[in-house]
Amino acid sequence: MKDSLIIFDTTLRDGEQSPGASMTRDEKVRIAKALERMGVNVIEAGFAIASQGDFESVQAVARAVKDSTVCSLARALDKDIDRAGEALKEAASGRIHTFIATSPIHMERKLRMTPDQVVEQAVQAVKRARHYTDDVEFSAEDAGRSDIAFLNRIFEAVIKAGARTINIPDTVGYNVPHQFGELVRKAIEGTPNADQAVFSVHCHNDLGLAVANSLAAVMSGARQVECTINGLGERAGNAALEEIVMAVRTRQDVFPCQVEHIDTTQIVPTSRLVASITGFAVQPNKAIVGANAFAHESGIHQDGVLKHRETYEIMRAEDVGWSANRMVLGKHSGRNAFKSRLSELGIEFESDEALNAAFARFKDLADKKHEIFDEDLQALVTETAIESDVNERIKLVYLHVCCETGETPEACVTLAVDGEEQKLCAQGGGPVDATFKAIESVIDSGTTLQLYSVNNITSGTDAQGEVTVRLEKGGRIVNGQGADTDIVIASAKAYLNALNKIMAPSERAHPQVPTV
Ligand code: KIV
Ligand code: ZN
Repeated sequence: MKDSLIIFDTTLRDGEQSPGASMTRDEKVRIAKALERMGVNVIEAGFAIASQGDFESVQAVARAVKDSTVCSLARALDKDIDRAGEALKEAASGRIHTFIATSPIHMERKLRMTPDQVVEQAVQAVKRARHYTDDVEFSAEDAGRSDIAFLNRIFEAVIKAGARTINIPDTVGYNVPHQFGELVRKAIEGTPNADQAVFSVHCHNDLGLAVANSLAAVMSGARQVECTINGLGERAGNAALEEIVMAVRTRQDVFPCQVEHIDTTQIVPTSRLVASITGFAVQPNKAIVGANAFAHESGIHQDGVLKHRETYEIMRAEDVGWSANRMVLGKHSGRNAFKSRLSELGIEFESDEALNAAFARFKDLADKKHEIFDEDLQALVTETAIESDVNERIKLVYLHVCCETGETPEACVTLAVDGEEQKLCAQGGGPVDATFKAIESVIDSGTTLQLYSVNNITSGTDAQGEVTVRLEKGGRIVNGQGADTDIVIASAKAYLNALNKIMAPSERAHPQVPTV
């Protein structure tokens, strides 16, 4: 029997550190439920001390998830560990993940601590975390640029203090596979009590090597890989979960461990859910989850695939959850059918009122679009949550757009700003441009538009368009989403969603920035 590879998903923590990828508590719970359905072993739900909202998100995920371990990140500081322990109190299985930097550059320049002080603080942190749970993970931040003898020393000390998982991050994505594999081998072989812990890796993708480095580490004895859906994460992202899982599954002739606990058919739906919630679209040629990942274009390839599938296909599209869009509901579906399909997707409503609001939206949508797919339902729930958000200061009341051949497009918008209606019109290069200008003539936000993208949620010209708008102001970046069968309306919703986010106060600590 091969070992099972522990899949540790950090989409909700490191993934959320991508600029603009912040998620609400309910969105995090939806993603966590999808990860649980997939069979992910550990879900890192957040950095509990970052803010009250982050604490509540970790707590909500801990309450909602039963089959996966729920984890909170904590710096090696008493206050962080206490906050993580508190947030995880109701978890069926909870883990505290504490970390401190171990590379010379981080210790000297960032922490301004000696190696002895770093070891001492790491040991104290692990001991404190053990008061809350037996499941404590220790990470040596920037291990990829750390001295191996120091790593062996600190790992031995934290294992003695009670850490059960030892994580080796390539924090800055600097390593290359053969070297990272060597580092992990030496980390395991040179730590006298290594047999009392699972060794793990956490690779960033700055050189596009996160997955390759993680897999090299698996060959050297790592039995946990930290990864994210769609490779989301700080800067160039983390190792992509779907690529790690499918590489290990497809190349069982090579890898010394297996991932049979992962229901790979959940990969594509979960990828779509994360893309739609964060607004980070998946590039078409992305492995496993990109729209072209299983599309054969050249005649030679098509001919081969038709004659014998394995000539050009190493995986089956259906094994990772690609299936033709399946109509799940329609105009005549009732409230119960709607509720039970959402429940199958892991979406439950807190009140009858919330269910009724979502059902009313569903009926509206079904009037415009005959076939409703799972993707439509996911978008609809996101939309309903946005609309019922009490913190939304600006709401769309009315939009009129006029486009005519040879004429300049014009948009007139009525917005409710803090409950007071205001109407203004503007012209633009196209209907979306005119709409954004009309909104700005009311709000005058001072933001810069960094990204505007439209994706169809399903196929067909009656599909809903899902729009992402990224705005920046004073260095802060937010993403807004909107979906509608009319893409101009979807665009207005996305723009307003982003504006509402940027106007909301945000004070969040970043785990890798030292605090006083
Ligand atoms: O990249 C990193 O080093 C991290 C740690 C906090 C595990 O995200
Ligand atoms: Zn990281």
